[in-house]
Amino acid sequence: PIATSRFVVQVAGIRDVLCNHLVVGGPLRREHFGRKRRVEKVLKSLINNGELERWGGNVTHQQIHVPSALVGETLGALAQSGVEYNVLTKDLQKDLDQEVVASRNRVRNIFRSSHNMDWTSYHRLADIQNYMDYLAKTFPSVASVGSAGKTIEGRDLRYLKISSGKKNAKKFWVDGGIHAREWAATASAAYVMKELVENRSKYANVLNKVDFYVMPVMNPDGYEYSHTNERMWRKNRRKHSSGCVGADLNRNWGYHWGESGVSKNPCDPQIYAGAKAFSEPESQSIANLITSLKPEGYISFHTYGQYILIPFAFDTVTKPKDFNELRRVALKAQAAMKAVAGETYQVGHTPTLVGAAAGGSDDWAKGVAGAKYAYTFELRPNNDRVGFALPARLITVAAQEALAGVLAVAGEMRVNS
Ligand code: ARG
Ligand code: ZN
Repeated sequence: PIATSRFVVQVAGIRDVLCNHLVVGGPLRREHFGRKRRVEKVLKSLINNGELERWGGNVTHQQIHVPSALVGETLGALAQSGVEYNVLTKDLQKDLDQEVVASRNRVRNIFRSSHNMDWTSYHRLADIQNYMDYLAKTFPSVASVGSAGKTIEGRDLRYLKISSGKKNAKKFWVDGGIHAREWAATASAAYVMKELVENRSKYANVLNKVDFYVMPVMNPDGYEYSHTNERMWRKNRRKHSSGCVGADLNRNWGYHWGESGVSKNPCDPQIYAGAKAFSEPESQSIANLITSLKPEGYISFHTYGQYILIPFAFDTVTKPKDFNELRRVALKAQAAMKAVAGETYQVGHTPTLVGAAAGGSDDWAKGVAGAKYAYTFELRPNNDRVGFALPARLITVAAQEALAGVLAVAGEMRVNS
């Protein structure tokens, strides 16, 4: 097999809160590895200056976001290096616009005064929180709302408990949106709540032995900011004395904190780990709650890349003792997710698939909170497509895959009688 690599260069010019994009990428064959290194050298100074942003990708795919002012220079460097690249989409703006168009065109049922939630468009925090209140009010025997605490800006860290009231039930924590811009992750967690509550009879087998705790918006301040100001915002909204804003909540958890894959610079736009472990009220309050619950299952939804990631991620070699059991169960989830629409989610040890990074919620859930089945799901799209801007028409199928994966893991849990 030919080892391939791909540079996706995204050309962005700000229009409204969204961006104008051109995405180009291309395969890089083994014999081009020397060239790849040259390209990285050329791009590196720009990336280090914070002008180019590593947008995604994994150990063999590099995806880089280029602001419009640097387009010429960057494309020139790519061309000179001899890297083959092709245009993946001429107008990523279209995908971003679809999110908006979908919500504008949505025919709201004016007779439905109860809630605004659906899975054909992305929703603001208020719609999601109101929907949780609606579920609790309408289905009080299975659903109740709880709060882990408040964000820096005072928003509620709200979760939904879904339980049929069985005594020995195992607990399963599911979350989304710890990274603000990963809207499909939040929508998918909201979909898990919807299905388990509104269609609970379909899932009676699982609900008879497992209680679910779902927090669809782990980073409400960042989530709102990604809707109102900057679509590609990732961190929370901590204000630093330098004037820079935000810490990466998925680098802030207290297990091997700061050991790899982080920045200690508060101005880093993506992976600033915070001043110390659990310096951020969001990660700290949620960790307190999870500690008190002691869930056996923990899954954090992110986007993108289509992976089922198995801890640990804090270095490149350390695996949990029961890694093989986690892998066995992950393969069940993979099969269930593939059955939805034929899409493949790669299963593996996090550092092998996407690289090492310490301070993630999954590592902490596994290493400290004792959640046996702890995973991060990187949902749609895969790396051949266009990143965080999953078109709104694909929310539902992405969410169905996410739910199928959760149910497959829950199905492996055994209740002690
Ligand atoms: N893309 C995710 C992130 O960068 C991957 C998280 C995987 N888990 C981890 N502990 N690094 O946060
Ligand atoms: Zn993420």
